[in-house]
Amino acid sequence: MESEIAGWFSIVFRFVHVLAAIMWIGNSLLFTWMELNLLPPKTQGDDPKDNENLLGYLDMLHGGGVFHLEKKVLRPDSIPVPLHWFMWQSYTTWISGVLLLISVYYTHGGSALLDASKSALTGSSAIALSVGGLIFGWLVYDLIWRSKLKEQRAIAIPLSLVLILTAAWFYNQCFNGRAVFLQIGAMMATLMTANVFIHIIQNQKKFMVALKAGLPHDLKYGKQAKLRSMHNHYMTFPVLFLMLSGHFPQLTSAVQSIPILAVLIVSLMAIKFWMNSRYQFKHWLKALFATFIAAVGLIALLLNLPGQSAPGLSSAAAEGSKLFLNQGCAACHQTGSALLAPQLAGIFDSLQTLADGRQVKADEAYLRESISLSQAKIVKGYPAAMPAYTHLSDEQLDQLIAYLKTL
Ligand code: HEC
Repeated sequence: MESEIAGWFSIVFRFVHVLAAIMWIGNSLLFTWMELNLLPPKTQGDDPKDNENLLGYLDMLHGGGVFHLEKKVLRPDSIPVPLHWFMWQSYTTWISGVLLLISVYYTHGGSALLDASKSALTGSSAIALSVGGLIFGWLVYDLIWRSKLKEQRAIAIPLSLVLILTAAWFYNQCFNGRAVFLQIGAMMATLMTANVFIHIIQNQKKFMVALKAGLPHDLKYGKQAKLRSMHNHYMTFPVLFLMLSGHFPQLTSAVQSIPILAVLIVSLMAIKFWMNSRYQFKHWLKALFATFIAAVGLIALLLNLPGQSAPGLSSAAAEGSKLFLNQGCAACHQTGSALLAPQLAGIFDSLQTLADGRQVKADEAYLRESISLSQAKIVKGYPAAMPAYTHLSDEQLDQLIAYLKTL
């Protein structure tokens, strides 16, 4: 019953989370795009008075008409009503994300975070490390970007990236690969929401209070908010990738998963940068493709470095271990966690209890059937969630079975 309720929660939270994130990230991308494409005010209108408070303007074709957008400095005597604020998309994304983190990773004593082959950490310590990282990550990041370093971007940006990767390396000492990627995604997403909550909205509130008291619009506050908005903007692509990485066990379970994570974060930020330079830099598309190809090449190289499969495996078992990652088996059958699917360690020749109460021996025939006709026998305590791998050849099935025997 408990796991059924957790299952329902994870459906609801996941859907709300995805919806809110689409709305928030959609906003972030569109607003930054508008900001970057504003035309200088002097080119518009005839009456200079009209342009006094104008910072820029833009025309956009959509929905059968033209949206004429102006960005301007507000005057205390003409504060528009209604004036729309944007923050709930961000807060809803974060709150539903935390609930999802709890229902997927923090239930069952935190076992979904662990990897017994890496460390003997207990589930509750893993949860404490995960929560601690969300808070500590924000404190360190905020300290850097409040300090004088923020004026020296050539130091502050690489330093922030190195700290993110150090965190990834740290979590990789004790968490399983999927949990490491998710933890880093959750940490970056927490920075994004805290940026909205603590900097963007607070600074906007400050100048709105001043305006209402009849003081002029102080652009200093807007500048602070804009810097943090830009950070959020550049974090969107990496965070989206990390949040989806549970579907990419080839990457999360790779021996070189942390260098792969580094390539992913940096290249996705670079790709966003090239997209943003579209109207200023003629070769932006070439640069974008070059970045993409370099990133894919580097990741392929990292995946194929010598020593990527466990030592001592026969060649069939080594091929099977690759199939296990590439066919997505590892996304459900995770090392150290029996949450989504049964643990396969020691399965060969063991006794299995099925949903109908029967007991069967997990011999080769059983394993073969479990993979290719997965719905034929369902293991007790699990939903019939495993896809039937009917497309695998006999040789591939043999390789998978050879690998399962080594576990
Ligand atoms: C979508 C999640 C998912 C994926 C992907 C998946 N499995 Fe499963 N697997 C399950 C679940 C859930 C069960 C238990 C229910 C059942 O028996 O069908 C299971 C059961 C099994 C069993 C029987 C385990 C036992 O304890 O008797 C084997 C063997 C197995 N899977 C191997 C594989 C292999 C090999 C792959 C990749 C080719 C794979 N699975 C991919 C979810 C998955």
